[in-house]
Amino acid sequence: IFKMSEVHNQTTWMVTRYSDVKELLKTPSFLKDFSKLYPNEDEENVEQTIFSNMMLDLDPPDHTRLRKLVTPYFNPKTISRLSPRIDEIAKELIENMKNKQGPVDLIDEFAFPLPIIVISELLGVPPEDRNSFRKWSNTIVSASEGEHPQFSQDVKDFVAYLDDLFERRRTDPKDDLISNLIQAEEEGEQLSRNELYSMVVLLIIAGHETTVNLIANTIYALLQHPDQFNRLKEDHSLIESAIEEGLRYYSPVDFSTARWVEDDREFHGTTLKQGDVIFASLSSANRDEQKFENACSFDITRPNNQHVAFGFGIHFCLGAPLARLEGKIAIQHLLTACPNLKLAPYTTPTWRKMFLLRGLEQLNV
Ligand code: HEM
Repeated sequence: IFKMSEVHNQTTWMVTRYSDVKELLKTPSFLKDFSKLYPNEDEENVEQTIFSNMMLDLDPPDHTRLRKLVTPYFNPKTISRLSPRIDEIAKELIENMKNKQGPVDLIDEFAFPLPIIVISELLGVPPEDRNSFRKWSNTIVSASEGEHPQFSQDVKDFVAYLDDLFERRRTDPKDDLISNLIQAEEEGEQLSRNELYSMVVLLIIAGHETTVNLIANTIYALLQHPDQFNRLKEDHSLIESAIEEGLRYYSPVDFSTARWVEDDREFHGTTLKQGDVIFASLSSANRDEQKFENACSFDITRPNNQHVAFGFGIHFCLGAPLARLEGKIAIQHLLTACPNLKLAPYTTPTWRKMFLLRGLEQLNV
């Protein structure tokens, strides 16, 4: 465990070893909901309304109730029904990409739009509104890096848009997740109005900002290791294990979200004070030599790949089956349609400078 900063008597820590990361993420007294420690006496504004009710930032019993409500929509069996549609989207995007002259940015053309189209269709966001969602989700994620000038205005626009969309689905329900959640809200006890907003915002952000990195980071690792890429081209049955290795080697989510220390305590010889903040470095845990042999080599046949790229414990990623399926279909189509895929000459992909997420600025191929 490392001290990252100490401000006004509050220390922020980072846990980096595999076993410590798991311990942190499964211990209930490392809280997600800091309002128990720092009650907010200000009147709630619109920003707090949509962010303070996300299940990702709540502890049981609220977390349990909210998670139960959406679990059926994201289990592997339900998700597998999306395969034919994901296939279609991947094919269409690759077709468009192949029609372009010269190098293309695989992120712009493929890795980014694919998960956005899928999550938008699952939630029931009309295609013509996807660009606005892209903008809002980007503002919210970059705002976590510090001040963002557009933040307040974008959040207001986002909420106004959701008000309108929810109203439309209330009067004319469709077969989509938003209509189902609205029905749960109307039935009262399972989901409050604020929780409905937070849930949709959480799913949109999670669906927009993570799987893009799974696809692009895995392709990047494959292009950096031609022996592994060739092996995969010869044996598509290795695609699933290549995805797991991509998740481990270039983890799309670098750190867990924050945990808060409920009471003064020891953690492996370090004294933590009530109210301290702790992050788990998932990407560091995923390269821990004590857990993974040759942790810094990229090996698409790695056995027993128990990485923590999707987190651990009760907040383990809800969207993991969806992300895995999208990754598998994306790579399958790319291998078949572009077997000679190569990094474009004279460019070196650079990592975006972000705290929680690990993704490339662009991937020119
Ligand atoms: C939680 C990673 C894709 C929805 C998490 C967490 C991680 C993670 C590490 C736990 C964070 C923590 O404990 O602090 C990823 C990665 C993805 C991905 C690496 C893609 C490769 C998705 C997708 C969705 C999604 C596609 C939904 C459409 C969620 C939700 C939670 C979550 C709702 C909160 C679960 C809870 O609090 O119980 N994800 N995620 N994720 N993820 Fe994902």
